[in-house]
Amino acid sequence: MQLSTRHLLGIKNLTKEDISLILSTAGQFKEVLQRPVKKVPSLRDVTIVNLFYENSTRTRFSFELAEKRLSADTINFASSNSSASKGETLLDTVNNILSMKVDMVVMRHSASGAPHFLAKHIPAAIINAGDGVNEHPTQALLDAFTINEKLGKLKGVKVAIIGDILHSRVAMSNIYLLNKMGAKVVVCGPPTLIPIHIKEALNVEVSYNLKETLAWCDVANVLRIQLERQNQVLFSSLREYNLTYGITKEVLNSLKKEIVVMHPGPVNRGVELDSDVMDSKQSVILQQVENGVAVRMAVLYLLSNRKN
Ligand code: NCD
Repeated sequence: MQLSTRHLLGIKNLTKEDISLILSTAGQFKEVLQRPVKKVPSLRDVTIVNLFYENSTRTRFSFELAEKRLSADTINFASSNSSASKGETLLDTVNNILSMKVDMVVMRHSASGAPHFLAKHIPAAIINAGDGVNEHPTQALLDAFTINEKLGKLKGVKVAIIGDILHSRVAMSNIYLLNKMGAKVVVCGPPTLIPIHIKEALNVEVSYNLKETLAWCDVANVLRIQLERQNQVLFSSLREYNLTYGITKEVLNSLKKEIVVMHPGPVNRGVELDSDVMDSKQSVILQQVENGVAVRMAVLYLLSNRKN
């Protein structure tokens, strides 16, 4: 079995079989990560550049660790301390790096479509680590892996994606993935943070009522308010957002069942999630982070072993 694609640009262009293959391979790598020696030689002789044009903690460390656990050689690029700040174009920067015999590019960029552009112009395999408000495929894959681990399936699972849907590449990739795998999706948040035609365009239900949504779902995937991507006022204050859409212990305790609480991080404690919810046993936020390494190992391994 191999992936149907040379690059991981988004979930949109993956098949159901691709997703299942990545998740089952990640399961095997998760086992490797429980061993005393957490390293395998699979990517010896493969060189990978981590090209981060936008800030990141989890995703960057997770990719770097995944590469190291697979024995790849890695180099790291942060745009703030590179020649990008001297005016070099993205394509020139990447071609210079590739001329040093680099095989794969992991890229985060604030421009939606930047990895798709690169894929048309360079020979190396590209993995999208988040492009603007478009997609963040490895986040959706690690979210799916975590749901499957907790609930034993994806098909038929009711997932609520709550918060700033409008600016969220995590929401986009999750919606594509969950729809392909037969889960049921509701997006919930204030009307100003939910794209108007999302129901028809992406085949999801829309709710503006947090309590009803929580009562319906098995999993709540809670998103950060992306203030850095908002150029107008979309709600009156963070305090008011918290009062209407923040997840509190009280609201969770009022439900008749225990739901799984997820968040891709970074969390704004006290805005979208109250502190005691974040630290409760219902929250699987740190399991998501742990699973991220195994999932990224699977993606790197499968793309580097792909025969054209
Ligand atoms: C997210 C991102 O950067 O898209 N974080 C992540 O990668 N875990 C979400 C966010 O920034 O809120």
